[in-house]
Amino acid sequence: MIGIGIIGCGAITIYRHAPEFSSNPHSKITGYYNPDRQKAEILAGGYGGKVYACCQEMLEDPLVDAVCICTPNKYHAALSIAAMEAGKHVLCEKPIATTIEEGKSMIEASERTGKILMIAHDLKFEYAHKKAKEILLSGEMGRILSFRTAFGHGGPENWSTDKSMNSWFFKKENTGSGVMGDLGIHKAHLIEWLIEDPVEEVKAFSSSRDKKLENGDLVEVYDNSICLLRTKTGIIGTLTASWTYYGGLDKSTVIYCSNGTVEIYNHPEIPLILTKNTKEKICYNFDTQSRSGIADSFINSIINGTPPDIPGEEGLRALKVVIACTRAYEENKTAGVGS
Ligand SMILES: NC(=O)c1ccc[n+]([C@@H]2O[C@H](COP(=O)([O-])OP(=O)(O)OC[C@H]3O[C@@H](n4cnc5c(N)ncnc54)[C@H](O)[C@@H]3O)[C@@H](O)[C@H]2O)c1
Repeated sequence: MIGIGIIGCGAITIYRHAPEFSSNPHSKITGYYNPDRQKAEILAGGYGGKVYACCQEMLEDPLVDAVCICTPNKYHAALSIAAMEAGKHVLCEKPIATTIEEGKSMIEASERTGKILMIAHDLKFEYAHKKAKEILLSGEMGRILSFRTAFGHGGPENWSTDKSMNSWFFKKENTGSGVMGDLGIHKAHLIEWLIEDPVEEVKAFSSSRDKKLENGDLVEVYDNSICLLRTKTGIIGTLTASWTYYGGLDKSTVIYCSNGTVEIYNHPEIPLILTKNTKEKICYNFDTQSRSGIADSFINSIINGTPPDIPGEEGLRALKVVIACTRAYEENKTAGVGS
């Protein structure tokens, strides 16, 4: 049994990691740490495990083999590095970190300690994305020419356990990058993985349109970003991230290829549609996905001693795209992503 310590007991732990680790046959939640102890106690009551008084106590516990970091973004790097140095494997929530330097330090810590560092970019495990990638790789749709991808919903105040408009999600020092670091980063990661072509250059517009702190001031991070991306081989596309899609979720990705179009989550009922140049339409439906697959993949990697499905390097690449988009907007230029 792999003992799991969970740091941060908010929404992502409640809805995803606690249920998925507790139901994986090879893992057991050893315990939790959260500054507000009551949140940890509720999870311990539901899934078993102890409540630690501090992170250090968890990191010193020999029953903890791996740590799942689910805190506000600004703590990801320091906690991940401390955990790996204490001999624990790490599953860290996205974004990997708030700066590129922090992300690099996490990867270095993983190399130095030999501990697994995996970043929780779960879109890669969704059936529609996996099937779309298989189709794109098969050559059935021809060459990829361009794309558009979006991730938008009504904002983190509808998701986080902190429902107030003073939530950490709206503070630059906690998140690093607003909606791009929250939602855009998932799509930056997804698109590079789907089309197997790194983003090299970006342009962007960002704005704080609607999210206001409790005192009525607009939040200090962007609540909307629309970015233009160009990949190494010249594929161009748009990436949109929004916290103000009050009418509902948009998680669509559309890939335009020389033999037709691949639409993912672009239709309310059909998760994947291929439309060929011949007008042939192929619709794919999938079983309901009850698990994100993140915990299962992390545990498999630990048990089998294999590299993680989403290594730190992939998380860092996605962060580089996000940071380049912010730089492109703030400096009103085309920004290079860097290798
Ligand atoms: N993969 C995804 O799809 C996904 C979705 C949502 C959130 N996330 C990520 O998960 C992380 C947590 O987000 P959330 O939605 O659960 O937020 P949340 O606000 O619901 O919960 C955050 C929790 O962290 C606790 N916390 C604050 N400082 C801490 C510290 N120093 N040590 C330990 N715990 C601390 C808070 O008390 C709170 O319980 C973020 O990095 C976020 O980007 C990922």
